Amino acid sequence: MKLKPIISDEMATVNSGVSEKVTLALFGVGRIGSVHLKSIARHLRIHLKYLVEEAVDIAKKALNDVGLEHVSIVNFKGVSQVLEDKSVQGVVVCTPTSTHQKVVTQALRAGKAVFCEKPVAHNSEAADECYKVAEECKLPLLCAFHKRFDPTFGPIIKRSRDGEIGQIRYIKTTLRDTMDPSFPGLSTLGGCFLDLALHDVDLACACIGEFPTTVSGDGHAFAKDIEKNKDFDQAIANLKFPSGALATIEMSRFCNYGYDQRLEVFGIEGMLSGSNVHDNHVVAFNSSGTSQPKLQASFPERYLESYYNEMDHFVKVIQGKEKLCISRIDAVAAIKIVEACEKAAKTKTIIDLTW
Ligand SMILES: NC(=O)c1ccc[n+]([C@@H]2O[C@H](COP(=O)([O-])OP(=O)(O)OC[C@H]3O[C@@H](n4cnc5c(N)ncnc54)[C@H](O)[C@@H]3O)[C@@H](O)[C@H]2O)c1
Repeated sequence: MKLKPIISDEMATVNSGVSEKVTLALFGVGRIGSVHLKSIARHLRIHLKYLVEEAVDIAKKALNDVGLEHVSIVNFKGVSQVLEDKSVQGVVVCTPTSTHQKVVTQALRAGKAVFCEKPVAHNSEAADECYKVAEECKLPLLCAFHKRFDPTFGPIIKRSRDGEIGQIRYIKTTLRDTMDPSFPGLSTLGGCFLDLALHDVDLACACIGEFPTTVSGDGHAFAKDIEKNKDFDQAIANLKFPSGALATIEMSRFCNYGYDQRLEVFGIEGMLSGSNVHDNHVVAFNSSGTSQPKLQASFPERYLESYYNEMDHFVKVIQGKEKLCISRIDAVAAIKIVEACEKAAKTKTIIDLTW
C-alpha cells in the first residue's frame, strides 16, 4: 500500500517550485527507522535508493508496507556500495546509538549529508568528533531532535524566545513513555537520561536560549531488569540557567494511561503550555462526569508530523533552501547536560557546568 503524500508538502512543492528529488539511503529499520521510512515514502522530493539492514525479512516487509518495494536492501557488509554511490546525497541514520559515531563519520567522509537519530553519538566527546568531521567535510549533520519540529512544541520555543511571556522563570516538561521495561533493546539505548531526558533538555535550552550552569538529578529503578543495568525507570533532572530560570524534566519509562508528553513555560508575563494529544477529539459528558479518549499510544503516533517536518528540513538543507536549525553546540551540549544530570543522580551531587 502506498501512503498518500501529506497535503502541506504538495503545497510547499507547488509554492517553492522545487521539483528535484534528493537521493537518500536509510540505515536501520527498527522502531524509529520504520517511522522515518513512512515520512520518506510520503515525501514528494525524496528518492530512497538503499535500505541498509541486516534483517532482510523485516526490511522487505517495511518497504512493502509503504509501497517502496523497488528500494535495494543492502546488508552491513555491503555498506561501501552505498557510500561509493555518487548519486546518494544523504544518509538517514537509525541504527543503535552505539553505532552512530562510526556510521555518521563514514557517511560524512564519503561526501553524504547526514540525518542522525538522537543522540549523534554515545557520549558528548564522540558527538563533538562527529561534528568536527562534518565541518571538515563541509557537510550538514542534523541531530534529529524531533520535538523542535512539533506543531505544538515548535511554536512554544519560538514564542518563548520572542519574549511573549517575558522573562522565563520556570520550565516543566513531562516525558512518560509507554515502553515495556523488559523491552530487550533497552540496554542499547544508553540509559534513561541519554535516551529520554535528552529531548527535553534540548527543548528547555531552546525555549530559554541558554545552557544551564548548575544541574542535579535523581532517579529510581522500579523494574528489576533496569536495576540490574544500574539505570533508572523514573527520574528527574533539575537545571538552573544563568538568567536564574529553572527547569525540571520528569521522565518515566512506563506510563499505563498512554504517551504523556507535556511542556510548560512559565514567564513573568504569562505561561505557554503544550498539552497531550488524544486518539481523537471527542469529549463525552454524562451524569458521572466528562471523559476523553485515550492518549496516543507512543512516539510513532504522537510525533508523526514532527518526524515528517524534520525529514522535510533535511531535504531543504540538502537543497540549500534552509540552514541547519540544530547546531553543533546544541546537539553536543544536550548530551553534556544529560551526562552531568545522570552523574549527579548517581552520586547524589550538584554539578556545575561551564560553557
Ligand atoms: N527520536 C525518537 O523519537 C526516537 C525513538 C526511538 C529511537 N530513537 C533513536 O534511534 C536509534 C535507533 O533506535 P531503535 O529503537 O529504532 O533501535 P532498533 O534496535 O529498534 O533498530 C535498530 C535497527 O538498526 C539495525 N542496525 C544495527 N546496526 C546497523 C548498522 N551498522 N547498519 C545498518 N543497520 C543497523 C538493526 O538491525 C535494527 O533493525 C537510537 O539511537 C535511539 O536513541 C529515537
